[in-house]
Amino acid sequence: MKVFIVGIGGGVGRRVGEQLAAAGDEPTGLVRQQRQVEALASLGIKAKFGDLVTMSVDELADAVRGVDAVVFSAGAGGKDGDDATTRIDGDGPGKLAEAAALAGVRRFMLVSVFPEAWRERRMDASFEHYMVQKKRAEIALVQTDLDWLIVRPSALLNDPGTGRVDLGLAKVREEITRDDVATTVVALLKSPDLSRLILEVTGGDVPIAEAVAAVREAAAPSGSEQA
Ligand SMILES: NC(=O)c1ccc[n+]([C@@H]2O[C@H](COP(=O)([O-])OP(=O)(O)OC[C@H]3O[C@@H](n4cnc5c(N)ncnc54)[C@H](OP(=O)(O)O)[C@@H]3O)[C@@H](O)[C@H]2O)c1
Repeated sequence: MKVFIVGIGGGVGRRVGEQLAAAGDEPTGLVRQQRQVEALASLGIKAKFGDLVTMSVDELADAVRGVDAVVFSAGAGGKDGDDATTRIDGDGPGKLAEAAALAGVRRFMLVSVFPEAWRERRMDASFEHYMVQKKRAEIALVQTDLDWLIVRPSALLNDPGTGRVDLGLAKVREEITRDDVATTVVALLKSPDLSRLILEVTGGDVPIAEAVAAVREAAAPSGSEQA
């Protein structure tokens, strides 16, 4: 499977790329820093140099043409002020979806955010702006006719993954490791029957393969059998 990841130099995106490469798939993606091109090359991943904000939709379409799925896992990370959050977290997914549609790539996975997790700990204006932009991006994506899937993780940790999550029902736990989010994203990418669903994912007790299988079963039209 060929997968184009915007945010492949970041925490979740790099882990998704690494896991796909280890499974023999062909991840690629967009990075803004030459050192990330080199770091990813050392993992066997060919990344493209580019910036989602400055690239045109046509340029992005050229970059994603021929892949089986695109993943948006980029984010401004609150580093460059609210305008950057608007352009990347808010405008980015819709722009990438437009490019995917132009290039004939139907599958689109958005790593968004679990809005309730951690909310009470940080209520400042920039954080609320981030949440508004994440929501705006989700709305733009669900209005497309792509085979989209939105995954909303709770607060992300760099601790080693546990291989277990809570996926689907919004159970309000506060944290999940980036490893476990990446493993969940990869398992969902490998379930092409899942689309047009919004899934919340947080730390939990269910092995990830079982959690994804349960979502597939719940989402399947009644009377159908899953492969
Ligand atoms: N942090 C949390 O607790 C949390 C919780 C739930 C959901 N999320 C969301 O989960 C996703 C992944 O989070 P993360 O912590 O793994 O992200 P991250 O480590 O901050 O990585 C984000 C990546 O996006 C890239 N990026 C930013 N602007 C870009 C642009 N204009 N063009 C191309 N790439 C660009 C960054 O590139 P550079 O390396 O060049 O900066 C970075 O590599 C994000 O969407 C985030 O909003 C985060």
